[in-house]
Amino acid sequence: MTPSPATAAVRVRRAELSDLDDLVALEQATFDSDRVSRAQFRRHLDSDSALVLVASANHRRFLGTALVFFRKGSRVARLYSIASLPEARGKGVGTALIEAAEAAARQRRCHALRLEVRSDNDTAVRLYERLGYHRFGPLVKGFYEDGSDAYRYEKILA
Ligand SMILES: CC(C)(COP(=O)(O)OP(=O)(O)OC[C@H]1O[C@@H](n2cnc3c(N)ncnc32)[C@H](O)[C@@H]1OP(=O)(O)O)[C@@H](O)C(=O)NCCC(=O)NCCS
Repeated sequence: MTPSPATAAVRVRRAELSDLDDLVALEQATFDSDRVSRAQFRRHLDSDSALVLVASANHRRFLGTALVFFRKGSRVARLYSIASLPEARGKGVGTALIEAAEAAARQRRCHALRLEVRSDNDTAVRLYERLGYHRFGPLVKGFYEDGSDAYRYEKILA
């Protein structure tokens, strides 16, 4: 896949055990609820049904992460979570992570990638829509642990 100019310098790799501290720190700094715990990240690193991605660039080993879930027998993958370091935002890290999640889903023969997003998360919604995600279904009331609502988005993968 040819990266878009904005993402050309960003590399995405599979997370390793040595990323755990960064993963947990970013998760805690970013999300107030529905956090992925250290133990969960550790399990996901070893799981066939999960993929933890890490973005890096130049000398920065850890700029952001995305967590993708796969289900046996399902050709729909789920982008469960995505976050980039606050100081790295607006530079294509999120885009690169989503593109890598899509590539991984395609490689596993998934025909769609789905996700949920807080209905008031305008930044994320704009990013998903720019990358070709379409809202489907009704607003999911009280989807998150703190009671916030979610929109569901889907992209059909070529
Ligand atoms: C949502 C989130 C992951 C986006 O990450 P990001 O690294 O800022 O993503 P990008 O840089 O690829 O895209 C963000 C914007 O920067 C712009 N951008 C991309 N590359 C750029 C570059 N090189 N220079 C300047 N701007 C750029 C994009 O056009 C995009 O703008 P748009 O959404 O208005 O189209 C990040 O804001 C975040 O971690 N938020 C908190 C967690 C969260 O809300 N996660 C989503 C719900 S789980």
